[in-house]
Amino acid sequence: MQKKETFYITTPIYYPSDNLHIGHAYTTVAADCMARFKRMQGYDVFYLTGTDEHGQKIEKIALEKGKKPLEYVDEIVRNIRNLWDTLLITNNDFIRTTEKRHEEVVQKIFQKVYDQGDIFISQYEGWYCTPCETFFTKRQLVDGKCPDCDREVELLQEESYFFNMGKYANRLLEHIESHPEFIQPESRRNEVVNFIKMGLEDLCVSRTTFQWGTPVPFNPKHVVYVWFDALINYLSAIGYDSDEEKFERYWPANIHLIGKDILRFHAIIWPIMLMAMGLPLPRQVFGHGWIMLEGGKMSKSKGNVVDPVILVDKYGVDAVRYYLIKELSFGQDGLYSEEMLVNRINSDLANDVGNLISRTVAMIIRYFDGKIPAADVTEPVDQELQDLAQQVFQEATAKLENLDFSGYLIAVMKLVSRANKYIDETEPWLLAKDESKKNRLATVMYNLLESIRIIITMLAPAMPTLPERANQQIQVFADSDQIKWQDAGSWGLVNSGAEVKKGEILFPRIDLKTLEEDNIMDDNKADVVENEAAKATEEKQPEYISIDDFARVDLRVAEVIACEKMEKADKLLVLRVRLGDEERTVVSGIAKNYKPEELVGKKVILVANLKPTKLRGTLSQGMILAASDPDDNDVEVLTLERIPSGNRVK
Ligand code: MSP
Repeated sequence: MQKKETFYITTPIYYPSDNLHIGHAYTTVAADCMARFKRMQGYDVFYLTGTDEHGQKIEKIALEKGKKPLEYVDEIVRNIRNLWDTLLITNNDFIRTTEKRHEEVVQKIFQKVYDQGDIFISQYEGWYCTPCETFFTKRQLVDGKCPDCDREVELLQEESYFFNMGKYANRLLEHIESHPEFIQPESRRNEVVNFIKMGLEDLCVSRTTFQWGTPVPFNPKHVVYVWFDALINYLSAIGYDSDEEKFERYWPANIHLIGKDILRFHAIIWPIMLMAMGLPLPRQVFGHGWIMLEGGKMSKSKGNVVDPVILVDKYGVDAVRYYLIKELSFGQDGLYSEEMLVNRINSDLANDVGNLISRTVAMIIRYFDGKIPAADVTEPVDQELQDLAQQVFQEATAKLENLDFSGYLIAVMKLVSRANKYIDETEPWLLAKDESKKNRLATVMYNLLESIRIIITMLAPAMPTLPERANQQIQVFADSDQIKWQDAGSWGLVNSGAEVKKGEILFPRIDLKTLEEDNIMDDNKADVVENEAAKATEEKQPEYISIDDFARVDLRVAEVIACEKMEKADKLLVLRVRLGDEERTVVSGIAKNYKPEELVGKKVILVANLKPTKLRGTLSQGMILAASDPDDNDVEVLTLERIPSGNRVK
């Protein structure tokens, strides 16, 4: 049997100082999406996550709670494991830095690097804050005082072990230069390069001021610095020094997926540690952006952390995963609010995906007694749908390969929109009225099911329960647990003759108003008491819409590539516009103010998610924006110069 290609992906190992929030869930869900994608492609995947349990902070919190450190973290680690179960995370292992299999490897490596002279003992000098039990450098002090508690600090010396990182700096720079894919996204790479070029100091890799850590093997007064300890999890979990076959199979890792906050540890300290060990470097370190709240960062002290378990309970695991994966665009920070989550579920999942499936199911039941018909009569519009499916497959694959998670889902949703539009264009309800068009109707139904099969296949890494739930209604997969990614790149795999059944609504619409009235939204909006006085002032207020209401209008830059007058309609122009790589037809009532040739080449603003409608027999797919005087005599189309077509206006 041919050996499968391997794919080793990791998340950071999280501090079990407290329960995890939606920000941590983001990294783990995104990595899971990647792991599932690679498994669907046929790779032998190893997906690792775990917990980083040593260090002074954990020791201190446990002490405050009157517990032993291990006793304290055990409970949180249980919650973390449950959280990953709830989010259907398919990690192959869960490593804890307090496990023997890990501590042994840390000691081995520390010893090895010490023996070869890259770790040496010296005096650590720093400003020490006794209440915080922490050393600071002079630069970190604020007005000469502790940056955490604002108390006096004293200059202390402590015997410590140091790691000579400078020795490997040039080799690392060369590696970064000759492997542009090593640090991603690209913008983050420059930040790392500049940091290395400023000169790397020796890194202090042991502590004597607390006990909770892996002891230095030849001097147990010292414990190994938490980061030196933690990074080694990526090796200890796959059998470094204990299971040679497994280690050889998976190392070097393909991707360390991490948040941008810990990039320097992974892109500088970690590769240098590996160089000192004589091991190859991971192929890629990817630092994604952060999920922010409107008021800034999530933090326990602000009391604004968002618990993913509650969200899954309310909205279902597929919807929460979909939201997380879609919302954070490539390497950038993203904003979270529950209202945005609900709007996203309603627009993408309930309206677009859910409706496509339920309309198709209803029509096949109505027109073909639920039996999936065979395709027969093919028209150009069918080819267009097929071509787009192929194009979306290529695009979604490429985006996922590049860890552009939101780009991947945006690509898939293009096919969802196209398939919904296909229903409007082919008008099956009219075909059904004409017995001679029965074959054509069958083809339309078949093509819709094919599109749905392809869409669900591509959504599976993000929404793992969708294939099984959808298959109960549409039977497009022989085995919904064994779907291959590549099948999304083929057309015609649905078997005719199988049966379609009406089933549960896959993504029920969520009523934001009810949520607010029931007082179960995450922010405190629903806490407002509606008394008479408040109501009275409300009545006088203009009717505001929220920023999220506005965000539902998909405004796009569109380039006019052709334009003509509509026959027998003196007010209407028919424009052909381009949005990125998509083209559309739009009918606009501006013929009195513009000659067709005046508009060609202009970039206008299109309301892209307006329901398509037929105007004098021509399907208008959106509306262009224009300003006018009160009598509509003078009309001016809004145009742009610089931003390329396809981009959003917001
Ligand atoms: N224990 C270290 C990592 C050691 S890896 C060898 C650590 N742990 S952590 O619990 O603080 O988790 C850090 C990671 O959680 C971040 O790098 C990021 O991946 C994720 N996130 C935490 N908050 C986040 C957001 N608000 N948004 C997105 N991800 C964030 O650092």
